[in-house]
Amino acid sequence: MVHRGGDNLSNRTLRMRIDGGGALLEPWLDELYKIGAEPGGGAYRPLYGTAWAEAGDCVERWMKKAGLETRRDAVGNLWGRLDGTEKGKVIVTGSHIDTVRHGGRLDGALGIVAGLTATEALMKARGKPKRSLDVVAICEEEGSRFPTNFWGSRAIVGSIGKDEADTIVDPNGVTIAQAMRERGLDPAKIGSAARDDIDAFVELHIEQGAVLETTRQPLAVVSAIAGGVHLEIVVTGRADHAGTTPMDLRHDALVGASVMIQAIESITRAIGAPAVATVGRIRAEPDQINVVPGRVVFTVDLRHSDPGARRALEERTRSLCRTIAAERGLELEVRVLQERPPVPMHAEVRAVLTRAAQECGVRATELVSGAGHDAQILAARCKVGMLFVPSVGGRSHCPEEHTDPGHLELGARVLVRTLELLAY
Ligand code: GLV
Ligand code: MN
Ligand code: MN
Repeated sequence: MVHRGGDNLSNRTLRMRIDGGGALLEPWLDELYKIGAEPGGGAYRPLYGTAWAEAGDCVERWMKKAGLETRRDAVGNLWGRLDGTEKGKVIVTGSHIDTVRHGGRLDGALGIVAGLTATEALMKARGKPKRSLDVVAICEEEGSRFPTNFWGSRAIVGSIGKDEADTIVDPNGVTIAQAMRERGLDPAKIGSAARDDIDAFVELHIEQGAVLETTRQPLAVVSAIAGGVHLEIVVTGRADHAGTTPMDLRHDALVGASVMIQAIESITRAIGAPAVATVGRIRAEPDQINVVPGRVVFTVDLRHSDPGARRALEERTRSLCRTIAAERGLELEVRVLQERPPVPMHAEVRAVLTRAAQECGVRATELVSGAGHDAQILAARCKVGMLFVPSVGGRSHCPEEHTDPGHLELGARVLVRTLELLAY
């Protein structure tokens, strides 16, 4: 898979280009970060929203300017192609263009900007690759608008369910299908986004944790992405008058839910790292100051790199919630919104990434990603690999997300060499 004929004459040129590219990353990242800027800080580019569309147009302009041929697939993934001179499967690099609410400047954006910079640098220094090279801005990874995620990568591997677009709704009741139509995309064509011509997908991303920073390492090759499950828990009690219902006669769904949330935290702490549990969304009904809450819906995100341990954590969560509900005379319903197994990165791609890092003067460590990434979905159809650069203070999914510019540049440089090894 690795073409070894590439001369190293290009290395110097590339280094110069990417040094220029390092400086290039920052203005591009800044420009993207302005799109969807929120009053409380950070950016929000939810799937098929206005900011999402504007960011896609912006990246498409950059791709065209760099000389790539662009196209959008049925779900709105944006592809920029540098044609290869030989037939064969394609090498792909990129990341997602959507963000969480108050998202940072680098999650997703870095992989797109670095992929484009690297491809442009290679094109200028080495001309056409043997293998076609695609830079992709994946339409959605975060699940921050619709209660589903990996929409873009699931379309690429052809695993979007038949009725998903018509049944999944955002908090305003808009279905994915409606949101797609508003962007001129036809939900009936989702199947056409599937690809079986990708050889390898490589993504540069921030770590989003503090391991690299605390161990003072500049770069990691990801060995695997941890698995996880998203649950939706519905607690039903009884709505009553807040002034007239004595405390011992209440079936308060919100108090019940809060006891459950504390129990989930305690068992996860007791299990210890790398187990993590997060209740990130909660809604109480009828949401009135003077009414005992009759119904609460909350989500739980449970992760562990070991599938058995993750399942055990889920079982404990379910049984604790059942016990608490029974004690308080509440009804309980637990739905699985999504379940993802841990996914190892491909050994060949890992080896290429490690070699590329070495050639850039760095001995890259290996790391398991606690965060989810499109690579874990794309692994079903192609070889995948990821590179991490440090996150200052381990902060991510917040406006404070930051990576030292020198680390960004190193990541981009290793990406250049990786793509050169894979495609030239
Ligand atoms: C995405 O960033 C996730 O890990 O949920
Ligand atoms: Mn990401
Ligand atoms: Mn993210």
